[in-house]
Amino acid sequence: MVDDLDLTGLISFLDFLSQKSGCEVKLVIGVKRRAVAVEVCCLKSPKLISVVRSKLVMISGLKVAHCLSRGDGRLFGVWPLGGKVCLGREVFTGAPFCLDERKMRRHVLIVGSTGSGKSTTAKKIFRELGTAKVVLDWHGEYKGLALTIDCISLTKLKSLGKLELLDVFSNSLKLSDAQYYLLLKIIQLLYNKNKDFGIRDVIFYLKSLEEVSRWIRESKYSLLRKLEMLTHKEVCRYSVTDVPQLVKDGLVIDLSSYTTEYAKRFVAHAVLAYIFTEARRGMLERTYVFLEEAHNIIPKSSELGIADKVFMEGRKYGVHLVAITQSPKALNENAVKNSYTKIIHMLREVDDAKYMAENIGDPGLWKEFIELEVGEAIVSQRRPVRVLIDST
Ligand SMILES: Nc1ncnc2c1ncn2[C@@H]1O[C@H](COP(=O)(O)OP(=O)(O)OP(=O)(O)O)[C@@H](O)[C@H]1O
Ligand SMILES: [Mg+2]
Repeated sequence: MVDDLDLTGLISFLDFLSQKSGCEVKLVIGVKRRAVAVEVCCLKSPKLISVVRSKLVMISGLKVAHCLSRGDGRLFGVWPLGGKVCLGREVFTGAPFCLDERKMRRHVLIVGSTGSGKSTTAKKIFRELGTAKVVLDWHGEYKGLALTIDCISLTKLKSLGKLELLDVFSNSLKLSDAQYYLLLKIIQLLYNKNKDFGIRDVIFYLKSLEEVSRWIRESKYSLLRKLEMLTHKEVCRYSVTDVPQLVKDGLVIDLSSYTTEYAKRFVAHAVLAYIFTEARRGMLERTYVFLEEAHNIIPKSSELGIADKVFMEGRKYGVHLVAITQSPKALNENAVKNSYTKIIHMLREVDDAKYMAENIGDPGLWKEFIELEVGEAIVSQRRPVRVLIDST
């Protein structure tokens, strides 16, 4: 038994596998990244690889397995284990305070008025996590925390999946029904061609659309105006398909130099969609996605989109969100409801304080939220605890 993971089933399966196939099977228990890794060598047949892979994924207690086939006849499975994420000290007792990482997998919400210490707390969590992680950094507050890139090229959009891509467009560009319809037609056309495409291709096909009626003409040009805002960054080193590789050692995507909210939102949603798609295919290790200024990415009135799917289903595929906002009431309700770990910094607005107190099931606590000092937070997992966050 390692931490919460019972390895008995896995070990007997690996025994069986090595006897049957004569393959060398290695089980490595990594302490540094808190992971169990399984390496199966000499599997040359893709069919055998897929059988073994499906068995590994199904093994009891290993439901969130992520197996990466490496194409060289080796199969590599990683099951990161739970651990502690230490934030600071309890205010009243001075005892060290740590979060249970396994519970953080049911998502984290960090709220607080401006200047109350939200980003400092998020950075602390980022540093403490021993998993893959990425910050979608709305204002550029996380530069230098890990590899930082300031743009993502929107050239390889096909890999997002048709429905997901449409989701990304409609959630970031606030499309009317007519605009959505035109975009759907263009995306269908592009998917039917056998090559990848980017924003410029979408614009090209939209421009060549015949204007057979007035509504098509009007919707076409209003949609073009929105799409052209996404072409502001011409040359970026990385595209969305590079993200799974980059997040392994931690990544910051600085969105602050994008000039429009449309573009920032589009990149944020596209990255999230690709991460989720890869995770569902079992091609990604456990990944935490930090959403700074989350109310801009998933506002209250937004339709059900990719972020909601991750809040609802991300845990089972190993994608976990840390949403950070100064306006909890402006945030999509799913984010508040589906975040098990809530970290509440000082809230100046009584309405926000009452909203959060109700959400953690202790309505009387709102007055405490108003009185918190900078760097202090009430952290709620099993029970609310007042914590002084360590800023280093
Ligand atoms: N845990 C802490 N310990 C000591 N000082 C802190 C702590 N957290 C925040 N501060 C101080 O408060 C300042 C603001 O913190 P931070 O940027 O984290 O707030 P924020 O809530 O993210 O603000 P904003 O909404 O403007 O982004 C920091 O520059 C730092 O000086
Ligand atoms: Mg901040």
